[in-house]
Amino acid sequence: MSDAMTPIERAHCVARDQADPLGHFRERFHRPCGVIYLDGNSLGMMPEAVPSRIEAVLMREWAEGLIRSWDDAGWWDLPLRVGAKIAPLIGAREGEVVATDSTSVNLFKLLAAGLALRPGRRVILTDPGNFPTDLYIAEGMTRLIPGCELRSVPLEEIASALDQSVAVVALGHVDYRSAEILDMPGITRAAHAAGALALWDLSHSAGAIAVDLAAAGVDLAVGCGYKYLNGGPGAPAYLYVRRAHQGKIRSPIAGWWGHAEPFAFASSYVAAPGIARMLCGTQPILSLAALEAALEMWREVDFALLDEKRTALGELFIALVERFCPDLALASPRDPARRGSHVSFRHPKGRAILQALRAQGVIADFRTPDLLRFGIAPLYVGYADLFDAAERLSRTLPRV
Ligand SMILES: Cc1ncc(COP(=O)(O)O)c(C=O)c1O
Repeated sequence: MSDAMTPIERAHCVARDQADPLGHFRERFHRPCGVIYLDGNSLGMMPEAVPSRIEAVLMREWAEGLIRSWDDAGWWDLPLRVGAKIAPLIGAREGEVVATDSTSVNLFKLLAAGLALRPGRRVILTDPGNFPTDLYIAEGMTRLIPGCELRSVPLEEIASALDQSVAVVALGHVDYRSAEILDMPGITRAAHAAGALALWDLSHSAGAIAVDLAAAGVDLAVGCGYKYLNGGPGAPAYLYVRRAHQGKIRSPIAGWWGHAEPFAFASSYVAAPGIARMLCGTQPILSLAALEAALEMWREVDFALLDEKRTALGELFIALVERFCPDLALASPRDPARRGSHVSFRHPKGRAILQALRAQGVIADFRTPDLLRFGIAPLYVGYADLFDAAERLSRTLPRV
């Protein structure tokens, strides 16, 4: 019998935590006392491995090593090294990912580069529900590139809006509000059939749900380092360029870190071979080091188990909230195969409810106009956490 049909007891949730094959990963995170953290889709928790790594970068590599550390401590290679650690999480192959800049800046670079890869085509196709920065960057492209047009249509019309004028289809893999998983393989196939490129924002999927860029034939992708990858506030983002495009793609910000021979200090730009050409200027070594330390644990993560746990946690939380808080309306797909790792509910007093819930030690976030968004990061959220969160939510509701 499913959780939805049986009354769920806390003891049952505790037993599930005890039997959880991924449960030991919880100990790898700093978990503040008295806090149930359901906001890892905004800012991931801090892995315990990060402070010692940062201290080593500060005290050994910077303070002692000084400029020698660019080579001796491998600082120069850090963006590619971190990219290589992200690659298995998104189904990318060696040399297809680099960690650098913010997601917004990477979107800018890949949209401009994608348009250039499809000469004669000038349309960026997206949906109005895409994350705002993705829309703003695309809008900015239309002001920058003569003839560039942003075509924004509801998801169900994407396929019919694809024509010979579309250069790039740019979408978010998991909807940041509802957690709906978009059909990445199907939309990518349709984009290719129309001669367009597919660019996906993986910010709400990488580290939370299975992503296979190679299998889906995705051309370009970006994603955040500070959400499910736990790289810390403002962590560098990453970008992916399918190997087949790497010979031709050019970054619109041709900085010296993307030069084939940066230390030749030549007066003219020659793009580096491979993904390194998408780098621009000097990289934030402290932030990259934090992200690299945070990524170490992923080598041990069984992705099938992660997906199983993510699904089970989502199912449990929906069942609990619907039982304890019938006034909240589910705003995420009920089908777990179509739902990412957060679960959203609607309530007209959503903001006030979440503020009051925070006072009870449960941290989640609000999205306008009425969305309560609960991020369930499977590496550190447990079953009993969700029971306690739902129970506190039910106690909070009548007081708001
Ligand atoms: C889907 C998505 N894309 C991009 C961003 C933000 O990008 P940046 O790190 O450049 O602020 C977010 C932030 O929440 C996001 O949810």
